[in-house]
Amino acid sequence: MIINNWFDAARLGMFIHWGHSSQQGCELSWPLVGGVFSLPFCQDIPVEKYHCTSNTFNPQEYKPQEWANLAKSLGMQYAVLTAKHHDGFALFHTQESEFSIASAPYKKDIVREFIDAMRSEGLRIGLYFSLSDWHHPDYPAFTEADKPYRFDQLPQPTPEQWERYIQFLFNQIRELLTNYGQIDIIWFDGSWERTPEQWQTQELEQMIRDLQPNILINDRLPNCGDFATPEQFIPPQPPKHLWETCLTINESWGYNPDDCKFKSSRQLIHTLCEVAAKGGKLLLNISPMGNGKIPPEQLERLQDIAEWMSKNSESILDTIPGLEPWQFYGPSTRKGVRASRAGGNRIYLHLLMKPYESISVRGIPIKQIKSVYVLADSTSLDFTSRCAIMDSILNPNPLGELTIDVPESVIDPFVTVICIDMES
Ligand code: GLC
Repeated sequence: MIINNWFDAARLGMFIHWGHSSQQGCELSWPLVGGVFSLPFCQDIPVEKYHCTSNTFNPQEYKPQEWANLAKSLGMQYAVLTAKHHDGFALFHTQESEFSIASAPYKKDIVREFIDAMRSEGLRIGLYFSLSDWHHPDYPAFTEADKPYRFDQLPQPTPEQWERYIQFLFNQIRELLTNYGQIDIIWFDGSWERTPEQWQTQELEQMIRDLQPNILINDRLPNCGDFATPEQFIPPQPPKHLWETCLTINESWGYNPDDCKFKSSRQLIHTLCEVAAKGGKLLLNISPMGNGKIPPEQLERLQDIAEWMSKNSESILDTIPGLEPWQFYGPSTRKGVRASRAGGNRIYLHLLMKPYESISVRGIPIKQIKSVYVLADSTSLDFTSRCAIMDSILNPNPLGELTIDVPESVIDPFVTVICIDMES
């Protein structure tokens, strides 16, 4: 396991699921195999029809600098783009096949433009890469006759085909890790379709680490993961190792106007607080349209999050998990040693529910409390504390219970953050 400081401290990233099929307003890749149970709004599109928009991809509104500015305004530290999804279409220039953006009307290397823009805002670069390729003849490609998609009955290659495919796969990954400078994350997917031996994971990992010594590899390259990738949920117990929850704003990864089941801004911010309080990262997905614009429903929510973060990001970014669940009914974070500039020992309480007059925090050193206030506007809050009577006499530093008055007037429409400043 590689411990990589920037990622350890990161809390929020932008996931971007985009491809030529976004022109059709459908989920990425999965429609061509007839959909999958986990994507309720996924279409079923004939294979040929799905692939045909690869010839017309020309996203004139693709402005990666705007995405980068947006990511920055959200307090994001990194961004991960689908360089290649299961449908096999490369958003980068590749010598290995004609099936890429170089052959589409747009021609320019989308991955390069993305990387340049994100880097210019100081964001770290992640590339999503699907190991499976439902278009490559040697994979072999998925056909209409292979429908419906069955996890236990997939089209299989001959040994010769597989040898050629592995060459192709290694070569494309080598291109991505050679031609674009430092890549911070390689985010694999699709490994379930073959065995770790077939993927030659050890050789692949070796090649990756030789080319990019500081890179992080997600756990979807079997046995090689630097971090776990729970999908669409927060692990109930905080995992011991690095982890990142990837999450869609509606129920689809790619741009899918059939799917109007959007999470509210409030739900998304609540998720962010919970993830931060468990020491994880939130990789929040956006689904640009075929022309490169972010759909308005997603943009609105991102703007709400950015607005909330502009006042509250201190409680999320560069924090460590705060109190134990028995100490406070809600997610909390704190500034650790790493962030001592924030003034030593500061605890952040995230109120995901409206309090009845007051909230309580238990088992903290009550004599060390210096002040309690609302993070967004520094409104100071009244509080009282108590501990066992003999403790208050005999113990110079007793643990006790803190009760904080929280008037209606300080409640934020999304999440109210309350700071407790303590002597270090
Ligand atoms: C799933 C899906 C894929 C999506 C990914 C994101 O594995 O196959 O469509 O890109 O999750 O985590």
